[in-house]
Amino acid sequence: MKKPFTRKQLASGRFDILCKGRWANADLYLFQQGRSRWVIKDFFPCPPLIRKTWGRFIARREYQAFIKLRGIPGMPEASFLMDDYAVCYRFIAGKTLKDTPPEAVGPEFFLKLEALVIRMHARNLVHLDIRNRRNILVTDAGEPALLDFQTSLHLEHMPKSLRNLLMDIDFSGVYKCWNNIQPETLDPERKARLETINNKRSLWMFKGYPKLIKGERRRDDQ
Ligand SMILES: Nc1ncnc2c1ncn2[C@@H]1O[C@H](COP(=O)(O)OP(=O)(O)O)[C@@H](O)[C@H]1O
Ligand SMILES: [Mg+2]
Repeated sequence: MKKPFTRKQLASGRFDILCKGRWANADLYLFQQGRSRWVIKDFFPCPPLIRKTWGRFIARREYQAFIKLRGIPGMPEASFLMDDYAVCYRFIAGKTLKDTPPEAVGPEFFLKLEALVIRMHARNLVHLDIRNRRNILVTDAGEPALLDFQTSLHLEHMPKSLRNLLMDIDFSGVYKCWNNIQPETLDPERKARLETINNKRSLWMFKGYPKLIKGERRRDDQ
């Protein structure tokens, strides 16, 4: 299938920088092509060794997650691999949950986000980084969308106990955001579920990137 655009076209076209990556993270660009707006998540600016190993692996992993989620409203659409190092998908107009004022989202938003996570799990995929409010988008229509599937895992061939544990991590991400933003609207059942999941000591490794791995973001002039 013909790709909507290539790296050559990107170089000759106009794009904006959405987000600069840290040493092992991609840069994200917003690229306008005709009436379509695309996000390009590009590992090419990473150091060569990182780009050729980690970058290539992660771009493909995110692409495969998008393929699996095709057709679910609230998931990035029309994804394709521009080349070995960059995965592209349609831009979704909105703001991240991190940048959204708490009063702009209510319990309906979080219930819809929970429903979106259930639909994702039904396709045998876990996200594992929903606790990060920059990975949740509040679309201009006020609907939830999920971004950043680079830590996602495919659930087929996993034992049931592990699948349940991983799915719980996603739900705890939803409830953690809900509890931080609107604790008074989070019902006691979900609050209790969040606490139970948080108390599972085996989940310590999913509590975010260690600072050392994160590093500084690349500057605009790099
Ligand atoms: N499809 C999209 N629509 C709108 N904004 C996006 C989209 N994809 C990414 N972004 C923006 O880019 C930021 C970083 O994207 P993300 O995929 O989380 O990469 P990373 O966390 O690895 O830098 C997001 O927090 C969001 O602000
Ligand atoms: Mg992210």
